[in-house]
Amino acid sequence: MCGIIGYVGAEPAADVVLDSLRRLEYRGYDSSGIATIDNGNLHVSRAVGKIKMLSAQLAVSPLPGTVGIGHTRWATHGGVTELNAHPHVAGGHVAIVHNGIIENYADIKARLIVAGVVFLSDTDSEVLAHLFHEAFTAGKTPVDALDQVLSEIKGAFALAAIAKQYPDCLMVARNASPLAIGLSDDLVCIASDAVAMAHLTRRVIYLKDGDRAVIRKGEAEIYDIDQQPANREIVTVSAAPMLVDKGGYRHFMEKEIHEQSDAISNTISAMTSETGAITAGFETEHLAAIKHIVILAAGTSFYAGQIGRYWIEQIAGIPVSVEVASEYRYRSPVTASYTTALLISQSGESLDTMKAMEFAKAAGLTTLGIVNVPDSTIARESDIVLPTRAGPEIGVASTKAFTAQLTVLLSLAIALGQQRGRLSIAEADALHAQMMSLPGAIGQAVSRFDEIRPIAHRLSRSHSAFFLGRGTLFPLACEAALKLKELSYVHAEGFAAGEMKHGPIALIEEGVPVICFVGPNELSKKTISNLREAEARGADVIVVCTDSMKDIVDFAEFTVTVPDCTELMAPLVMAIPAQIMAYLTASEKGTDVDQPRNLAKSVTVE
Ligand code: M6R
Repeated sequence: MCGIIGYVGAEPAADVVLDSLRRLEYRGYDSSGIATIDNGNLHVSRAVGKIKMLSAQLAVSPLPGTVGIGHTRWATHGGVTELNAHPHVAGGHVAIVHNGIIENYADIKARLIVAGVVFLSDTDSEVLAHLFHEAFTAGKTPVDALDQVLSEIKGAFALAAIAKQYPDCLMVARNASPLAIGLSDDLVCIASDAVAMAHLTRRVIYLKDGDRAVIRKGEAEIYDIDQQPANREIVTVSAAPMLVDKGGYRHFMEKEIHEQSDAISNTISAMTSETGAITAGFETEHLAAIKHIVILAAGTSFYAGQIGRYWIEQIAGIPVSVEVASEYRYRSPVTASYTTALLISQSGESLDTMKAMEFAKAAGLTTLGIVNVPDSTIARESDIVLPTRAGPEIGVASTKAFTAQLTVLLSLAIALGQQRGRLSIAEADALHAQMMSLPGAIGQAVSRFDEIRPIAHRLSRSHSAFFLGRGTLFPLACEAALKLKELSYVHAEGFAAGEMKHGPIALIEEGVPVICFVGPNELSKKTISNLREAEARGADVIVVCTDSMKDIVDFAEFTVTVPDCTELMAPLVMAIPAQIMAYLTASEKGTDVDQPRNLAKSVTVE
């Protein structure tokens, strides 16, 4: 979602903050801004659009000073305008940046308006600037001002403020939104994500909920929720400085599609013990404790979870339910029979998933996090982390993180299946061998862009498209539909192929594309019958199947094949044409592939 940055050091703050904002741009990107303090004066620059708009503005009118804050915004309250962009300023004295939502902003705003404050934006965040200004006008010190502001606001926030009265410091606080402080000998910085400051320092303090801090060059004075001095551990993060180049590809998404062989191969290594067995990193007794699983996730990670359920139930015989994280804690779930909550998240920062994790923990479940960003909140706060080794994913559409999540889920299913005695060593080895063939198969699938181009051309001219599949290919169909709609803005839905006739078939009319994943299994005959039903009503049928099945649907308008693979591996290999289809359709339509409208890479609001 939004990203915040702050810097106190010796370098020009606006340059450092701008550089870090570029590394945070994946969180949100409809507007951005920076404020600095120099010689007792506050300077602000804000721009609508991508960071390059702000960068161009700063090239013409640089901001002086070595203390600064910055923000990249994904609109929640108030439209995408310069006035709604952060930093927000009060009285020309205080500037703030904020990530999250101030839930009681309307009450605070009403009180301040009565006191004569004039608001310039439609955001909830602007109240923060006026609250700090009010505190400083009343003679508060930075710590006291923080305490006063925090005592009045409710909601989720990570915030940073600078003030003319205290030109050498940043004031920061967090509650339910991540905020880290980076330390080195000659600077202190803050960021919503350690990766945004990994090029400055790897020594990081993660603030806890309710923490507040006053930061000066070389020092961070931290207080806890009870306003007592707090000693927070300094950790050395492994986060690599965010790679911002596209490596010769047109888009990050294209690059990330091509990186999937490596992502899967690295993830398989992480799931394999020194003796070469798939253990998913578990000791046997920990596997034995997993008796009933609830998988909690959002978006693409949710669909990975649905595929994982098929595998874990089939291979290990362990009951699994899968829920969208945003619903879980609000529906009074009965948790008594569950032992384990499995959180799946690329970013490790999706607020819905974090909150579901907290709920599950409080209910006594052991939490396992399948997470791609190593130092993220979910990675740090899960009881056990199963890392996906996909590397940084910058494109908003999840690609390599999805197939890496599937790799972990399949490994977990195999490890559990062995521990439960449902798989012999030979059977587990055979599955391991199938997994080891994945990087090669995926490498070949990725090379088939040209086969898919005519389909993308067809989809780019459609208003609607339907995706079908059975078994693990049903959640894959939903994921393919999500990819197509989020990237190309073509309306798309995924259905279980057998469910089509129970309603969705009413939507089929002449020329509607129906894309079907036909797996190498017995169910394929039933799936093909469902496709016939669609074709009989005018649908243009597009089939995704394996090489040796290529003639299986003789009435298909287009057939895309992937290298031959087993039924278990099919969702991993067939994910590739689904991603390429969405990518090429979006490219043909000229939409913003890496940063589609209205979306953010990491969604840190509810
Ligand atoms: O970082 P997470 O995996 O928790 O993110 C969950 C969803 O927001 C994410 O998968 C989203 O649906 C992507 N845009 C899909 O491509």
